[in-house]
Amino acid sequence: MSVPTTTTGVSTRSGPAAATDFERGVLNFSAGPAVLPESVLRQARHDLWDIAGTGIGILEHSHRGPVFDRVIEEAEADCRRLAGIGDDFAVLFLQGGASLQFAMIPANFLADGATAEYAITGVWAKKAAEAAALYGSVHVPFDGKGSGYDHTPARSEMTTAPAAAYFHYCSNNTIYGTRWQAPPVSDHPLVADTSSEMFSRRYDFARHAIIYAGAQKNLGPAGVTLVIIRRDLLDRAVRKLPPMLSYAVHAKDGSRHNTPPTFGIYLMGLVFRWIEAQGGLDAVERRNEEKAAVLYRAIDESGGFYRGVARPDCRSTMNVTFRTPSPALDDRFADEAAKHGMDGLKGHRSAGGLRASIYNAFPASGCATLAQFMRAFAAANG
Ligand SMILES: Cc1ncc(COP(=O)(O)O)c(C=O)c1O
Repeated sequence: MSVPTTTTGVSTRSGPAAATDFERGVLNFSAGPAVLPESVLRQARHDLWDIAGTGIGILEHSHRGPVFDRVIEEAEADCRRLAGIGDDFAVLFLQGGASLQFAMIPANFLADGATAEYAITGVWAKKAAEAAALYGSVHVPFDGKGSGYDHTPARSEMTTAPAAAYFHYCSNNTIYGTRWQAPPVSDHPLVADTSSEMFSRRYDFARHAIIYAGAQKNLGPAGVTLVIIRRDLLDRAVRKLPPMLSYAVHAKDGSRHNTPPTFGIYLMGLVFRWIEAQGGLDAVERRNEEKAAVLYRAIDESGGFYRGVARPDCRSTMNVTFRTPSPALDDRFADEAAKHGMDGLKGHRSAGGLRASIYNAFPASGCATLAQFMRAFAAANG
């Protein structure tokens, strides 16, 4: 059966428009689940009811029917084209969030008695290391806890294990607002948790064995996890695994070993096309840098009223973290900002302070609005 071609939904290469993508009144600074492109949501609203003129909504189509065949094929093709991912990598759409990847990676690739390296640049990186320690031995080349996770390490700050199955790092530390400006230099295969910055910039796939990301920040709704894994690893699992924990099984079955998160895959596909419509990864990266610079400028020019959490050379373009002179003022800032239509500015519950998450879909005008508010708030409370 061929899928009808319409101007919306599957079977169209046009995808959501690039034009003015912000109509709702509230600025959503949530760290995740987070803001999505409004044109994507409008398309989804249509396809929820009836996708591609089939008279059936995307939530109601069989995961083995021709409509969903097209959805998943196009999502994978769009992902590959967007990031220049070759056939030497498998692109998988899995469940269980990034947290399940914390366990699946060592379950598949860290043999009993073997070592993997985990750079601990924050709570998520630490959780990944803890999951790995259930399977093998963990070498920690760097632990940023002592400095409040305010930076990612230079090469000179890291120790190295002579032999390791892989080197795991978290490319963007959502809670602290730090990121690795470039992937770590290591002799071991790199594995990256890119959950809070996937496709906010270009990645050098050739230097990585696995790149993974929970969708709910930059890619789509919670419930689907994008895993990009070098194909030659697939038959190198170090132990017998239940099929749902095996990358080889998921790759062989085209991410449909069981019923996959169909809506999440569909929406991620729309987001890939939206990124393309924005000009692709390089254009999005440039825009993200400009957006973040507006907020960092407001911090740096505040005469010390605001203090950035991240060391300037490690600043994230996705999560901008800062503090006012006191926790009470932080609370007042978040409350007053909410009254001005800016939601979700409180820092992570474990870190306190303030955090503006400004993912790909967050409008540049929203950063300007927040910067203006920051200046007014500092003038009134400084
Ligand atoms: C960098 C990073 N890794 C992992 C996770 C955990 O993701 P999930 O809730 O999808 O398991 C998060 C969640 O915020 C995160 O920010």
